[in-house]
Amino acid sequence: MEGACGGSCACSTCHVIVTDQDFYDKMPEPEDDENDMLDLAFGLQETSRLGCQVVMTPELDGLVVKLPSMTRNLQAGDFR
Ligand code: FES
Repeated sequence: MEGACGGSCACSTCHVIVTDQDFYDKMPEPEDDENDMLDLAFGLQETSRLGCQVVMTPELDGLVVKLPSMTRNLQAGDFR
């Protein structure tokens, strides 16, 4: 995972897809900034999150995520 913006919610290179809906439901709702970046993410799914914005808690122990097949990095100029 690239994490191009260093966790400042300014890219979507940390896009992850939560594999289990139950775990997704345990997470706080994404903030507007995260949703804005997720809108730019490749392969967006119902359980998509930005990995850098997920605060791990004991309730999320066992969380499994998968990575999308590609990411978009606006700063690298690969967004068309
Ligand atoms: S690293 Fe850029 S939004 Fe997560």
